[in-house]
Amino acid sequence: MGVFTVSEITKNDLIDLADEIKDEELRDKTVDLIEEFEISNEKMDYEKSDLDKIPCWIGGHHYYEGGLVEHVYSVTKICIELADNFDEVYGIVLDRDSLVSAALLHDLAKQFILKDLEGFRDYGLDHEVWISCELYSRDFPEKVIEIVMGHGGETREAMPKSDEARVLHHADSLDAELNNQGIFGGGAIFELQEE
Ligand SMILES: [Fe+2]
Repeated sequence: MGVFTVSEITKNDLIDLADEIKDEELRDKTVDLIEEFEISNEKMDYEKSDLDKIPCWIGGHHYYEGGLVEHVYSVTKICIELADNFDEVYGIVLDRDSLVSAALLHDLAKQFILKDLEGFRDYGLDHEVWISCELYSRDFPEKVIEIVMGHGGETREAMPKSDEARVLHHADSLDAELNNQGIFGGGAIFELQEE
């Protein structure tokens, strides 16, 4: 008997959260990518996994069916709460549209990297580089690309530079850490729930 259940969050919940993006063009671009992520560069011939089925990482945080969409949903909601907090307490108004778009998209390239609950595909680009390239080719605003690119923090490919990028980085890390070590009782997941 496994430790974790299957997530009840689906990609439709991510699409609903995109309603928080006020700019219509950015909202539509964001939803398009959540609904159907086709790689713009045809030379990159990768199979794609079902977004609703894959974990966030193998043996890492949100390691269960639907873990990726659950994590993305939670991170986006944390970002929205933090943006509200900084506005209310300090009067600092973050670029909320860019932040929400970046939060929803930041991990979506993992659809090509994670095969299922047990394996990776052979891949060349790390997920933050991959999604950033895709956003560039789809003419996303530079700000969204910067936030997404830096979400892994100082130890990864790019430093978070803007306040919005720092918010996403910390929301992402917090959600991952609590899932991995806190709210679920500690440690990565070693057993999967039986069918
Ligand atoms: Fe993430």
